[in-house]
Amino acid sequence: MKVDVLLGLQWGDEGKGKLVDALTMGYDVIARFQGGPNAGHTLEFEGQKHILHTIPSGIFHSAKINLIGNGLVIDPVVFRKEVDRISGYGFNMTKNLFISKKSHLILPTHRLLDAALENSKGTGKIGSTLKGIGPTYTDKTGRDGIRIGDIDLPDFRIKYEALRDTHLEKIKALNFPVDLEPLEKEWFEGIEVIRSFTLVNGEYLVNQWLSEGKSVLAEGAQGSMLDIDFGSYPFVTSSSTTCAGACTGLGIAPSTIRDVIGIFKAYCTRVGSGPFPTELVDETGERLREMGREYGSTTGRPRRCGWLDLVALRYAIMLNGVTRLIMTKADVLSGFDTLRVATSYRYKGEITREVPFDSLADVEPIFTELPGWKSDIRQIRHKEELPQELRNYVSFIEEQTGVPVTVISVGPDREETVSNT
Ligand code: GDP
Ligand code: IMO
Ligand code: MG
Repeated sequence: MKVDVLLGLQWGDEGKGKLVDALTMGYDVIARFQGGPNAGHTLEFEGQKHILHTIPSGIFHSAKINLIGNGLVIDPVVFRKEVDRISGYGFNMTKNLFISKKSHLILPTHRLLDAALENSKGTGKIGSTLKGIGPTYTDKTGRDGIRIGDIDLPDFRIKYEALRDTHLEKIKALNFPVDLEPLEKEWFEGIEVIRSFTLVNGEYLVNQWLSEGKSVLAEGAQGSMLDIDFGSYPFVTSSSTTCAGACTGLGIAPSTIRDVIGIFKAYCTRVGSGPFPTELVDETGERLREMGREYGSTTGRPRRCGWLDLVALRYAIMLNGVTRLIMTKADVLSGFDTLRVATSYRYKGEITREVPFDSLADVEPIFTELPGWKSDIRQIRHKEELPQELRNYVSFIEEQTGVPVTVISVGPDREETVSNT
């Protein structure tokens, strides 16, 4: 069987959690492949809202297997809280959640270092979630990291202390305050929780599942515009958020990938610093934020809001080889007389349909206006019942991208989903 990859095409928070949960019934395995607790994936069903950071969004279907792939970075403290919360709803995960031994550990000092480095950047701050992501991936590529599989080795404590002490020196040089004892205590308690799960050679397991005929949905975190290579560098995260990341983050060959499902909001949001060409810093932006409840799932920060950017979307579709699209938050656009969509940029006096190398900050979006729709669409479940203006909006996106929009999400609940095929 094959792997389908579902990933965010914008700046994260496109609704990946909701859609992975809604699609889980069609798969045997749900696997996260990169990122870590910087992710906040929201699921809503039966009147309950759940936010996941490290655990794949298939976890609420007890018959399904969930895998945390080698491409992730895991904070035992956050992981433990997630486990406690989900267990509190009566879900026992020890049988259907596996963790790759090759995923990397976020140390308490990685988190402190993240904060110290951000603090030292002044106005050049990335707007990091301060979960220790950057420093942990830095240690991974610098070949100094500690992996989940190391927790069972006799020299684990020695390795931990050596890395911690290197971090402490750096943090001290940045004049950042440290009170490590309580952080270490909860961290080692979290390590014990990780020990109660099955730690696996994820790459062998996932390939074995595929050869047994099992189907896999790979769940991305963040979005393509935050990718370490292709995002608006340096205002990016530290992992490969594109489809290529699914191969390296799970240990699967490119030829195992069947569908690449790209998910995007009907408009755009971004949390943290960095360029955002279609950003609305006016009442319309405020309206999108309030109607869309655009506040970060991980940090609670207000998300910056703006019109849909098709230049960025086409770029992400190209990078990922997206075969089908899912559009979320269509309901949030209800009530506007006119909607605007950026189809190209003016850059250094020229019109371009490409994302420039140096800075998205210097582009001026060129918009096409489309008529909006007035009715509340949250109750709609059949595409024929969607307002004609919304159908035209979707057709316009399909024409501009050359990729079909197969699902339209009209609300946060699992059920608030309309098939567009
Ligand atoms: P993720 O990181 O991609 O999983 O997205 P987040 O969970 O961070 O943010 C998406 C937010 O939008 C969450 O609060 C979801 O419950 C919510 N959401 C998802 N799809 C829809 C939708 O179609 N309409 C509305 N109104 N909210 C949605
Ligand atoms: P999900 O999976 C939105 C942003 C941060 C910051 C930049 C770097 O929920 O879509 P980091 O903590 O990774 O060093 O922060 O990336 N960021 C996200 N924005 N959704 C996310 O994840 C994000 N994860 C990181 O706000 O601008
Ligand atoms: Mg999120």
